[in-house]
Amino acid sequence: MSNPTYKRIVLASRPEAAVTPDNFRLEEVPVPDLADGQVLVRNHFLSLDPYMRGRMGEGKSYANPQPLNEVMIGGTVGEVIASKNPKWNVGDKVVGMFGWQEMGVTDGGGMQKVDTTHIPLSAYLGSVGMPGVTAWYGLNKIIAPKAGETVVVSAASGAVGSVVGQLAKLAGCRVVGVAGGKDKCDYVVKELGFDACVDYKAAKDSKELYAMVKEVTPDGIDGYFENVGGDILDVVLARLNAFGRIAMCGLIAGYDGQDMPLKNPRAILVSRAKIEGFIVSEHMEVWPQALRELGGYVAQGKIKFRESIADGLASAPEAFMGLLKGKNFGKQLVKLI
Ligand SMILES: NC(=O)c1ccc[n+]([C@@H]2O[C@H](COP(=O)([O-])OP(=O)(O)OC[C@H]3O[C@@H](n4cnc5c(N)ncnc54)[C@H](OP(=O)(O)O)[C@@H]3O)[C@@H](O)[C@H]2O)c1
Repeated sequence: MSNPTYKRIVLASRPEAAVTPDNFRLEEVPVPDLADGQVLVRNHFLSLDPYMRGRMGEGKSYANPQPLNEVMIGGTVGEVIASKNPKWNVGDKVVGMFGWQEMGVTDGGGMQKVDTTHIPLSAYLGSVGMPGVTAWYGLNKIIAPKAGETVVVSAASGAVGSVVGQLAKLAGCRVVGVAGGKDKCDYVVKELGFDACVDYKAAKDSKELYAMVKEVTPDGIDGYFENVGGDILDVVLARLNAFGRIAMCGLIAGYDGQDMPLKNPRAILVSRAKIEGFIVSEHMEVWPQALRELGGYVAQGKIKFRESIADGLASAPEAFMGLLKGKNFGKQLVKLI
C-alpha cells in the first residue's frame, strides 16, 4: 500500500515587484517512512510574516534567499504524530520552522516543546513567539523607555506592533499607535489600552499627518518603534525629543521595492537621535527571558492579541499577499488542520 500524502508549497519563481500567485506552487508528496531517531510533526498553524517577502528575492539582505523549488520558509506550531526518537513523544506540542507544509520530519532538532495549558498553541507564533520577542527586543534594548515617556509604534494593530504598545503601557509610558483605518485604531485604543491611535489613511497629505501626530503627542516623542517607513518616519522625526530613540524593526512600505526617501534627516541631528536597526534572530540570548515575560503576560491577560486566520494551506499565497497590503488584522496565520 502506498504512503498517505500531505501538501506543501514551494517557491516557483521570484517576484518582479509585488508577489503574485504564480510565485508559488502547491505540491502533494508522500509522508516519508521514519528512520531511527526521526520525528514526524503534523503542523496545525503556519505563520505568515513580512520577512518572507525579502527571502523570495535575491537582493542584498541580512539573510540568504529562499532557494527556488524548495518549501517556503516559515514558522509552524503542531503536534508530534509519530516518533522514533526517545526525546519526543506522540502528542507533544511543538513550535518549529517546518515551512509552508502540512507535515515536517526532523531528527529531533529544530523544534521546541511548548506548554498549552495557559497559552493557546497559535500564540507561540505571535505574542509568545518571534513577533513578540521582536517587540520585546526593540522596545527594551533599543528604546529602553522610562515611565512617563511617549512611545509611538507603527503597524500598531499587527503582531509586533500590538505587543510593543502593550509592553510600553506596562512600563508606564504614554503610547500612541499608527494604524490603517478606524477599526484598527479603535481596536488598539479600546481593546489594547493605547492612549491614542493615528489613522494614517485618514490624512490627505504629510502635513495633515503631522498635525494628527502632533495632537496626540503634546510632549513630543521619546521612542519610536518603526515597522513601516515612508511619510510617518519623517513626521515622527519632526516630533522627536532630544535624545529620542528609534528601533528600526521593519520598513514594510518598501518591501516591493518602493522608494522611501528621508525628507528631513536634519531632524536626526537636531534631536541627537539614536536610530538602531536589528534582526531578532541575531539576539538569541534574550529569547528565554523575553518568552518567559511574554508568556506570563499573555497567560495573565495583560497582553491581548488578535489573529487573522486563513483556512487551509492552499490559501497561504493569497493570505500572504494580503499581509503585504495590510489586509490582515492582527497576527496572520494559516490553519492547516
Ligand atoms: N527586525 C526583525 O527582526 C523583525 C522581526 C519580525 C518582524 N519585523 C518587521 O516588523 C513589521 C511588522 O511585522 P508583523 O509581523 O507584526 O506584521 P503585521 O504588523 O501583523 O502586518 C503588517 C502590517 O503592516 C502595515 N502596513 C503599513 N504600511 C503598509 C504598506 N504600505 N503596505 C503593507 N502593509 C503596511 C499594515 O497595517 P496597517 O493596516 O495598520 O497599515 C499591515 O497589517 C514588519 O515590517 C516586519 O518586517 C522585523
